[in-house]
Amino acid sequence: PPVSLIGAPTDIGAGHRGASMGPEAMRIAGLGEALIARGIDVVDRGDVTGPRNPWLPPVDGYRHLNEVVAWNRAVMEALSAEFRAGRMPILLGGDHCLAIGSLSAVARHCRETGKKLRVLWLDAHSDFNTHEVTPSGNIHGMPVACACGLGPDALTGLGGHVPAMRPDQIRQIGIRSVDPPEKKLIQQYGLDVYDMRYIDEVGMKRTMEAALDGVGADTHLHVSFDVDFLDPSIAPGVGTTVPGGPNYREAQLVMEMIADSGRMGSLDIMELNPALDSHNRTAELAVDLVESLFGKSTLMRD
Ligand code: ARG
Ligand code: MN
Ligand code: MN
Ligand code: MN
Repeated sequence: PPVSLIGAPTDIGAGHRGASMGPEAMRIAGLGEALIARGIDVVDRGDVTGPRNPWLPPVDGYRHLNEVVAWNRAVMEALSAEFRAGRMPILLGGDHCLAIGSLSAVARHCRETGKKLRVLWLDAHSDFNTHEVTPSGNIHGMPVACACGLGPDALTGLGGHVPAMRPDQIRQIGIRSVDPPEKKLIQQYGLDVYDMRYIDEVGMKRTMEAALDGVGADTHLHVSFDVDFLDPSIAPGVGTTVPGGPNYREAQLVMEMIADSGRMGSLDIMELNPALDSHNRTAELAVDLVESLFGKSTLMRD
């Protein structure tokens, strides 16, 4: 399908400044050109806008809640317009709080079209915190909880339906940093988490087969790719690195198996922080992986 790039240049929900430069870094790394070279119809819609980052301490367990709401509303509207136009949005973050807007838009799109929704959450973190238990107040640690109806009304209700989705529509892959009370909530909500221990024991191929099980012709697959999913040795340009992530080949296999499913309908590329990167290498790696997501393969058979 035709693709639309949408930048959301903000670090409003993060604990480090700099993810606001993510969209431009992805463009400079050649994301648009790489997709065009694959024969895809690509339009760069430019950036959505929102309030500047006032960089304040948490209030009632949230940092910058009003600003986060404004940015997510803009993201949700921008993505919804692409769905209505029959195009596949690629959201260029920006920090991962913006997935509240993209998940709201995707969930609404699926309700309107009667499609089944499957979310693949590629991340070192579960992002299932609430304002009661967050260690930081950073809302990029909360988007999955918000999508499942846990959070302030202004965020859980963005797409007009609370909860936006059920936990059983979500598969988390690559997880290796979860706060203790966050873990309790994940267990309580029954989220499907393929953590790094699982991937070590079972391997990435069988992990992805399990995560994609049940995905069919009537499924809209949304991929939310937090770049800190990747091992920091290959992807240093993120604010919240956690050692022990997927290596280059494992990450490629993830992308290739998603491409093979043929069902990806939307994509977030989040948390890229050029201020912490060296020579834009993390953005270049992300572009390389996105090419695989769109069918570039090293396979000799086919
Ligand atoms: N769990 C930590 C927190 O709530 C870190 C979250 C990191 N999230 C992210 N999207 N990078 O603050
Ligand atoms: Mn993360
Ligand atoms: Mn995340
Ligand atoms: Mn769709």
